[in-house]
Amino acid sequence: MYKLKSPIVILNFKTYLESSGENALKLAKSLESAAQESGTTMIAAPQTADIFRIKEETSILTMSQHIDAIDAGSNTGSALFETLLSAGIDGSLLNHSEQRMELADIDLVNEKLLENNLISCICSNNIKTSMAAATLNPQFVAIEPPELIGSGIPVSQAEPEVVEGTVRAVKKINKSVKVLCGAGISTGEDMAQAMELGAEGVLLASGIVKADNPKEALLDLVSKI
Ligand code: G3P
Repeated sequence: MYKLKSPIVILNFKTYLESSGENALKLAKSLESAAQESGTTMIAAPQTADIFRIKEETSILTMSQHIDAIDAGSNTGSALFETLLSAGIDGSLLNHSEQRMELADIDLVNEKLLENNLISCICSNNIKTSMAAATLNPQFVAIEPPELIGSGIPVSQAEPEVVEGTVRAVKKINKSVKVLCGAGISTGEDMAQAMELGAEGVLLASGIVKADNPKEALLDLVSKI
């Protein structure tokens, strides 16, 4: 079982060109050295096709961005758990707002992750779905109001009540679940505020992926916690 020290930073590479292919490997190396320098737990969430190489060439913890609720067989174009496992994933995001899943499917894939002692981070869009996610006992629930994703407006400032409300509701259901928050997070202040609201880390993308110097941006992100 992974014992991850808070605060946690999960960097979602999404499908930006700056974080795809060769650039994904470069970004993963920046994440690796920012994690080592700062002593903070940092996790990469690259595209499926980039996972194997990142696992081969770095020591950074790596999650997939999604896993389909399928069994091995005829499912063209799908992301199969077993393949991701053999590519070396340490866990996965599930139900990201850009890749929503049905509750029963989240449950199924979350169980596969937990049975294999891997990290499960279920994303949610509001307090109610965060509560549903918490009942499934993942390591993380990541609250991300969809309208703020990629906006550059930090959720910790724009909707602090959603972060606080999620922490309160999730902990009432399951104390062992850690709450992360995301959407518009990019600076040290944003992250410090998120932690003040009770989050144990952040899930973020564009602020780091599109930064001129991602490693410096990551070090700034964790500089005030
Ligand atoms: O998964 C991270 C995410 O959706 C937030 O994106 O670009 O607002 O940091 P961004």
